[in-house]
Amino acid sequence: MSKPTIKAFVFDAYGTLFDVHSVIEKCNELFPDKGEEISQVWRQKQLEYSFLRQLMGTYTTFFSITKDALHYACKQVGVGLSEKKEKELLSAYLKLNHYEEVKGVLEKLNPYQKAIFSNGSLDMLSPLVEHSSFGHLVDDVLTVDEVKQFKPTPMSYQLVLEKLGVRREEVLFMSSNPWDIAGATNFGFYTAWINRQDKVMDELGVRPHYEYKDLNGILEHLG
Ligand code: LAC
Repeated sequence: MSKPTIKAFVFDAYGTLFDVHSVIEKCNELFPDKGEEISQVWRQKQLEYSFLRQLMGTYTTFFSITKDALHYACKQVGVGLSEKKEKELLSAYLKLNHYEEVKGVLEKLNPYQKAIFSNGSLDMLSPLVEHSSFGHLVDDVLTVDEVKQFKPTPMSYQLVLEKLGVRREEVLFMSSNPWDIAGATNFGFYTAWINRQDKVMDELGVRPHYEYKDLNGILEHLG
């Protein structure tokens, strides 16, 4: 495959730039020894609800879905979620840790367009990026909330083309989420699966163009 001419590096947020499971510490503080279980169910249901609401045509913001998923997770695990604890956990979601290589990679990508494209709504993405050490290195923060269509629908990825003024074959899209990589590949982006947990790619009829253990791998695409 000839090397693509990339004009825009576009990053998924949760799981790719930010570690969604960095909330485990706060979960354990509030619910000792239940943190890992709550965090796993919370993330699983957050994604599931975005898929199901897309299919049902009952779109609501990802932040609202994240709150609903937290309530489900606490009921499932059998702990009581007071208003105060809900507030503390949702606030932790606005200050997730980012993966250690992110800032260095973004600095090396400086001459290129760099954007975040996420199912997250701006009420959760803006504080998250501001709290990180690399907000100044990101040119655009794009949210599906503008079109009210969640990834992996083609209509969601179309927003990237409109906002960045690039053609789909000029985009390298990074995500750790196999379903997101499948959606972006299906849409026509070049895709780099950031396979942090050494998972197996889902069988969704498409394969990523590239697979890396972390974001350092994408530096091979610098012109
Ligand atoms: C994102 C989540 C779904 O879009 O990974 O950032």
